[in-house]
Amino acid sequence: MFSNLKGLLPVGKRFRTPRLPTVKPAISRREFSFLLGAAAPAILKGKQTGSDACRIKIDTDRVVGEIDPKLYGNFLEHLGRCIAGGVFDEGSSLADAEGFRKDVLKAAQDLRVSFLRWPGGNFSSNYNWRDGIGPRDERPRRLEMAWGTIEDNRFGTHEFLDYISRLGAEPYICANFGTGSWDEAQQWVEYVNFGGDTATTRLRKKNGRDKPWNVKYWGLGNEMDGPWQMGHRTAEDYGKFALEGAKLMHWTDPNIQLVAAGSSNYAANWIDWNRTVLEYLKEHINFLSLHMYVGNKENDYYEFQASTVALKERIRLTAGLIDEALSGAPKHRNIYMAWDEYNVWYRARGDAERGRRILEEHYNLEDALVVSSFLNTFVNHANVVKIANMAQLVNVIAPIFTNEKGLFLQTIYYPLQLFATHSHGTALDVFVDSPTYDTKTNPKVPYLDVSAVNGNDGALVVNVTNRHRDQPIAAIIELEDKKFSGDFDVYEVNGPDIKAENNFNTTTVKTTRQKPLTGNGSSMKYSFPAHSFTTIKGRIS
Ligand code: AHR
Repeated sequence: MFSNLKGLLPVGKRFRTPRLPTVKPAISRREFSFLLGAAAPAILKGKQTGSDACRIKIDTDRVVGEIDPKLYGNFLEHLGRCIAGGVFDEGSSLADAEGFRKDVLKAAQDLRVSFLRWPGGNFSSNYNWRDGIGPRDERPRRLEMAWGTIEDNRFGTHEFLDYISRLGAEPYICANFGTGSWDEAQQWVEYVNFGGDTATTRLRKKNGRDKPWNVKYWGLGNEMDGPWQMGHRTAEDYGKFALEGAKLMHWTDPNIQLVAAGSSNYAANWIDWNRTVLEYLKEHINFLSLHMYVGNKENDYYEFQASTVALKERIRLTAGLIDEALSGAPKHRNIYMAWDEYNVWYRARGDAERGRRILEEHYNLEDALVVSSFLNTFVNHANVVKIANMAQLVNVIAPIFTNEKGLFLQTIYYPLQLFATHSHGTALDVFVDSPTYDTKTNPKVPYLDVSAVNGNDGALVVNVTNRHRDQPIAAIIELEDKKFSGDFDVYEVNGPDIKAENNFNTTTVKTTRQKPLTGNGSSMKYSFPAHSFTTIKGRIS
């Protein structure tokens, strides 16, 4: 009962016998020799697919939508060493007077975490927020049933919101809709956001916080569709229960925005779950939460790299369900998707890891490439996806990994950092003509996975994942309606091979600055190295 019973996603499809993909490069011999010189012959073995070279065509009038800064969020759960021993390590020489690890805070600031979800995850479904306030030494120790441990409650609402102000991120609190009651959820909003004089706000003041924090984003529970969740209900029962909670929370603070628990259990009828939840809650919520974890259990690199094909499909289907739910509603009313847990997670899952060091996944280059594709996909659907939280921030399936002496940055840190640093503005509907490969479950997966952003500052940003394990892929980037102006910065995440990992001694997979590129009028040529993620950024006019 303690374990997370959910299957890895997408369920039943992902982990089959490895199979070599069919390679279909689309580069002409002439073009390719020009682009790659001596490296060219390696890629010329495949057949061409019609065009002379791989093309990435960009038109700044073809707008997908505004990129919400909350796309570059993370997640803190009371789980293993994410909080205790991660962001919060009282008594450590690396922590400040409040107990926050300074090195971790710096790494999180450098990651530009925009939006931070807390306190879970599965943990939130047995969390009583009142246990985590007041003098730390007087807080109760509780049996924690999501992960089978004891929660000391030394990190609670005040600590989380203190951390948020140090980090400079937007907070997002997930209320307990598992074992919790409507009262508990309502009073948590009152404690955190209410300005008037009540017993609850007096308690807040007594605990050292005079003014409300005005936390805007609140979750109506976590993964309520999963049988592994405490308080799991049918979609109807969850819909009715969450609706009453949502009303009370809104009546306490009409400015809050609510996130309903949508699908995480794709082994069940996830479409019906979303449809029912939307039907009950559509007048009260601003976001529908969705979760997705992927893995490479069968060690099939190409199938793994195609994981985001399922993500794209789930986004498309959920957008349709939202449209269906809102048909006939006032035009200004909208509900967006919140992918508030996503990541690679398949190694560190078993009961054997129970205890403080659970879910300590070590990431390699192929994982970082999949994360870059998650981010490309979110940007490519920026009109309907407004929240995304990499799960989690530290140690637990995380980009930052600590021990008592320091930390290292995992491979997945780097693509997220590049997106969070550069990809702000308007997402563009980019045309990509790339060679493709077939896997057992996915036909015609493009080797190049691309997103493009018309930056707030007049810059153009192009993000390209080259999924090819062995070969560079050359592309011509064409601008339909503008000209490249000046040099373009090139940042590349790569490593010696797809299984390369980082550790406390070596950072093998990281971002490196490449030679700047110069555009030639409205086109620019670049060869994307094998198994790489590249961000190109410069000015257009
Ligand atoms: O992020 C780890 C766990 O994955 C979360 O607690 C839960 O929501 C999901 O199943």
